[in-house]
Amino acid sequence: MKVVVIGTGYVGLVSGACFADFGHQVTCIDKDLSKIEALKQGIIPIFEPGLDDLVKSNVNAGRLKFSTDAKDVVADAEIVFIAVGTPSRRGDGHADLSFVYAVAEELAPLIKGYTVITNKSTVPVGTGDEVAAIIKKHAPQAEFDVASNPEFLREGAAIEDFKRPDRVVVGVESKRAEEVLRQLYRPLFLNETPIYVTNRRTAELIKYAANSFLAVKIGFINEISDLCDAVGANVQEVAKGIGLDKRIGSKFLNAGPGYGGSCFPKDTLALSKTAKDANSPLSIVDTVIASNDARKLSMVDRVVAACGGSVEGKTIAALGLTFKPNTDDMRDAPSLVIIPELQKRGAKIKAFCPEGMREAKNLLNNVEYCENSYDCLEGANAAVIITEWDEFRALDITRISHMLKDKVLVDLRNIYNATEFEGSGIAYSSIGRPQKV
Ligand code: UDX
Repeated sequence: MKVVVIGTGYVGLVSGACFADFGHQVTCIDKDLSKIEALKQGIIPIFEPGLDDLVKSNVNAGRLKFSTDAKDVVADAEIVFIAVGTPSRRGDGHADLSFVYAVAEELAPLIKGYTVITNKSTVPVGTGDEVAAIIKKHAPQAEFDVASNPEFLREGAAIEDFKRPDRVVVGVESKRAEEVLRQLYRPLFLNETPIYVTNRRTAELIKYAANSFLAVKIGFINEISDLCDAVGANVQEVAKGIGLDKRIGSKFLNAGPGYGGSCFPKDTLALSKTAKDANSPLSIVDTVIASNDARKLSMVDRVVAACGGSVEGKTIAALGLTFKPNTDDMRDAPSLVIIPELQKRGAKIKAFCPEGMREAKNLLNNVEYCENSYDCLEGANAAVIITEWDEFRALDITRISHMLKDKVLVDLRNIYNATEFEGSGIAYSSIGRPQKV
């Protein structure tokens, strides 16, 4: 099939490259000429494992093209994906749909022949209706349907998630649109991926409900971890014990410093707003939003306590800056709250992150960025692990015990066990686990 994807961010670029890998003829469109020129040369603007090879192989096979001009390709396409950003609107947390609507208006006159315009961006319930109205208004003769096909890929695992999803959700208002989307995803049926067809509004809500539920699950285990600290239980064992219940499941039960990223914070806020506007507020989602915000700050109290009650004049080594490993994405990363607050309390910060420092330099001030973990730890009073990058999982404990002046290590991702620090002289603390072994 001929496919156009408008927007070459995480979702757009991964979707376009994967659709091409399925054998479809794909053109990815973006207004940003420099981005498109770079993509044409195989330069990928985001860090996503495997994406560079996937793009290169499909460009070489002639299945994947990049352009700033949608004109001809939309006329030829059977399906056009809108995969532009829907950031939180400044001030009120609603999703900013201006980019989505602008695309709808621009592509309306370009439609030739029956075309399925499909929202892949995460959009509030009812956006598909609005997109349809915009296109109708700007191209009354156009023959089209608007569908919703939300994406569930995780950054750092995007290609795997796209190609082997638990399900494909399709929201359509006509059998004809359904057939086009079934045809598009036919390659996935080979590994029996369920394609779940519903109406547009339901598909739009499924995306928000899924992300918000995952955020609730994380918020829940994070609060349970604080209770574990209070009663001397082990949150990892609680997570295992409840996760064996298939109704709960073992995923997304790792306690941490709070969730971040470009989705959970934005999507929970947008869903909360949608619910309030519909006079059906979601108190649980509202609670998790507040709980998660407070949690990032509470991590600072842990570090200060581990340093004897004050970090004034102390150097703290921060390992990991990105919101999670295997990404360069700093959006809403806990480090963006933890580090400035530590600085406010008088700490000097050294930091190392395999992929986050380029972006962090635009977001964090007065931080000494280091070449590697040991360079970061050398000479610091204490250290805090903020993101669970693999390379932090096997640090030489004897070596770091000579590097940390006050021999304090706070592990916010429970990468290690207290037993590994016995005899090292390092005062190790983590979250939701008894400190004594
Ligand atoms: C998420 C959803 O997983 C994905 O389906 C959706 O399409 C986009 O949003 P992403 O934000 O890329 O994906 O990352 P994810 O792996 O879900 O992690 C989100 C945040 O939750 C991270 O900050 C991570 O550290 C945190 N997290 C995740 C936990 O704190 N504990 C967990 O057990 C899992």
